[in-house]
Amino acid sequence: MSPPGPLVGIYPGSFDPVTRGHEDIARRTIRLADRVIVAVAHTATQKKSGLFTVDERIELLREVFADDDGIEVAAFSGLLVDFARSQGAHFVIRGLRAVSDFEYELQMAQMNQELWPEIETLFLAPEVDYSFISSSLVREVAKLGGEVKRFVSPVVRERLQAKFAG
Ligand code: PNS
Repeated sequence: MSPPGPLVGIYPGSFDPVTRGHEDIARRTIRLADRVIVAVAHTATQKKSGLFTVDERIELLREVFADDDGIEVAAFSGLLVDFARSQGAHFVIRGLRAVSDFEYELQMAQMNQELWPEIETLFLAPEVDYSFISSSLVREVAKLGGEVKRFVSPVVRERLQAKFAG
């Protein structure tokens, strides 16, 4: 039985900042759904030090996906499942880069399933060229003056350079 209305996927994360790996996952997802909501969490499950504010992350995501029909950007606070339900989402998307991601991802997927049994989590593999990229490594490389153009879009690279120049 197909679900009523458009098929909506939520792609949640910290996106601090969005990388080419994230872009790849969102664009793979829009081939499977009518709408993809890239959702920036105010409340990340793992404690991380942030570089960009949530508003800055959203601005970057909007610029990066400006030409991608069906990919929207939003922020949420509180539980992901509550946001997903409020958006009429059918599934959550997460990228799996390596086996090391799996334990944490499975735990989150099962917790979300426990909190809202109707939500499914789908895992997508990024293109192999992006499988080693993470926002935290991009932040570190940029901070130390390394070249990040292979890992992030030009607008993100510019914003990283501006952050660390100041
Ligand atoms: O990109 P990240 O930082 O690995 O994303 C983690 C994120 C934001 C998806 C996760 O922390 C999350 O869903 N936070 C929202 C709060 C929540 O619902 N917590 C319970 C999920 S197990």
